[in-house]
Amino acid sequence: MYKFFNHLDRMVEFASTKQNPTILEFGVQRALSTNKFISFAEKNNASVLSVDIEDYSNVSKSSKWKFLKSNDLDIENVISNFPEIKETGLDLIFIDSNHEDFHVKELLLKYFKYVKKDGAIFIDDIDNYPLRLKKDTRNSIVYDLTLDAIKEFYYSNMNLCSLKIFLDNQENGLAMIHKKGNFEIEANPIKQVWNYNGFIKIIYPFLKKIKMILRNFFKK
Ligand SMILES: C[S@@+](CC[C@H](N)C(=O)[O-])C[C@H]1O[C@@H](n2cnc3c(N)ncnc32)[C@H](O)[C@@H]1O
Repeated sequence: MYKFFNHLDRMVEFASTKQNPTILEFGVQRALSTNKFISFAEKNNASVLSVDIEDYSNVSKSSKWKFLKSNDLDIENVISNFPEIKETGLDLIFIDSNHEDFHVKELLLKYFKYVKKDGAIFIDDIDNYPLRLKKDTRNSIVYDLTLDAIKEFYYSNMNLCSLKIFLDNQENGLAMIHKKGNFEIEANPIKQVWNYNGFIKIIYPFLKKIKMILRNFFKK
């Protein structure tokens, strides 16, 4: 029978394919992901490193968990507090902090190097359909731009990774960048590729309709 997943199950299932994995998480807040990772870590001898700009150090007393209050973009600070990132590398990174496209892109470019071969970076909140149901314009745009940024990263790094998108019911989409390159191989810089003017996408259906109306009119 088909098994229905949620995002946390998908990541835990991925982590469970690794030997004593190290998980780095950006964004704690309600600690849903943090607690899920910690409970996995306790049963599987894994370790969980969490970073948040706010203090969430009280979330757990687990010996498998370390917390750092920091901006996640400050990679020097993150690595100096969590040297295992540089020494042994990471099996899984979960990005669930600031969801703006430029922030996610920066995180991917900075941390990709520290993912082990066959490890993965998961990015939450990349599908705006649930937000469109709520008519939430701002976040719909943010999620769209984030997905564009992830694709841009992937297209610039196709030799080093693959990209999967999961659209699970009731969740806002999860992207998975699966690293094929070795630990310490850095991400390629983002390649700028031509794109069409967004305005044309808006007027295209109208132009198409006008064309069909004119064609039918002249057929008569
Ligand atoms: C969506 S919540 C995280 C939810 C959490 N993963 C869960 O499953 O409950 C986002 C968190 O990211 C944190 N955050 C926002 N910007 C950040 C940054 N630049 N660096 C680190 N954490 C940040 C916020 O303080 C907030 O706690």
